[in-house]
Amino acid sequence: MIGSADGVRISITGLGCHVPERVVTNDELSTMMDTSDEWIRERTGIRERRVAAPEEALSDLCLPAARQALEEAGIDGTQIDLIIVATVTPDMAFPSTGAILADQLGAANAAAYDLSAGCTGFMYAVAQGYGMVAAGLARRALVIGGDVLSRILDWSDRSTAVLFGDGAGAVVIERVSEGGFLGFELGADGSGGSQLFVPAGGSREPASAETVAERRHYVQMNGREVFKFATRVLVSSAENVLAECGKTVDDVDVYIPHQANVRIIDHAAEKLGIPKEKIVVNVDRYGNTSSGSIPLALADAQADGRLQDGALVLMTGMGAGLTWGSGLIEWTANGRTQ
Ligand code: ACO
Repeated sequence: MIGSADGVRISITGLGCHVPERVVTNDELSTMMDTSDEWIRERTGIRERRVAAPEEALSDLCLPAARQALEEAGIDGTQIDLIIVATVTPDMAFPSTGAILADQLGAANAAAYDLSAGCTGFMYAVAQGYGMVAAGLARRALVIGGDVLSRILDWSDRSTAVLFGDGAGAVVIERVSEGGFLGFELGADGSGGSQLFVPAGGSREPASAETVAERRHYVQMNGREVFKFATRVLVSSAENVLAECGKTVDDVDVYIPHQANVRIIDHAAEKLGIPKEKIVVNVDRYGNTSSGSIPLALADAQADGRLQDGALVLMTGMGAGLTWGSGLIEWTANGRTQ
């Protein structure tokens, strides 16, 4: 799916993020499994990640992020018409984390639900929020991306446990007078589904003593295949959305790729020809936070002053599905809502 904005100006007017307090370093992991700080840093660029406390669920990470985004947009929960939570680790199968958050935020007028597209979830949800606002179904959408992947990791499997972390980010999307989204490209290749999946816990393999004993409720991944897929789609999806919007790589001011692995990011940036100073990287501090990755990186870019008014920001996610998604936005500073 690909398309560009047709003169409709819709942008991000509020941004927030939240990560758990607990920091888990590579050295700490090396006391739990056969790994080392050196291996993890060299192969992934990750130094540490955040891990949720036992009592912390996804909505506990999303709520502060959402409140911050609403505050920055200068609105409260009653002014939100739509809440989408992109995640693969909701609080529970149902009700949705979106509905739980709607209640906590006092968003009594909002439609609220969860969306599952692996680590690409945030980009899918932003495109969906954009579409709902563009169609006039929603005046303001709150789009949240977050995951508590620590809950579905096999902590005895060094090939996956070292890669991920917990975190969430949120944005408010609404009509603006200047700037805004230029276009999106989203895709899915279900034939690669078994490269990155959680086999049990759904309707195909419901939870049982056997699935628990076989550790089939945890993330299983073919790292090399996912690596190849990720480097390929980060490049093709970015090129596609830029061409669709009549832009080139040279026009991009800020590049926000999904934060899975520094080697994947460097490879994509080099192929695309994006210089280092334009790339936002925080995988070193957070690991791969799945749906939280891109909004957390957006918040970092805002904090370090790179999200200037009018800056062209390219975001690309990829993940389980296998899925991918890019969005191009001309950043809109606050105070220019319609
Ligand atoms: N510590 C020490 N050694 C390890 C570890 C570890 N944590 N994990 C694997 N190894 C070992 C392997 O067992 C292997 O040993 P062997 O040669 O004796 O068999 C060796 O290190 C090399 O393993 P490779 O898998 O070849 O290592 P590679 O360089 O491919 O890196 C990695 C592995 C980091 C997983 C890489 O393939 C990768 O990043 N893949 C993409 C993963 C990813 O990003 N997934 C999520 C993206 S989508 C989403 O976000 C949901």
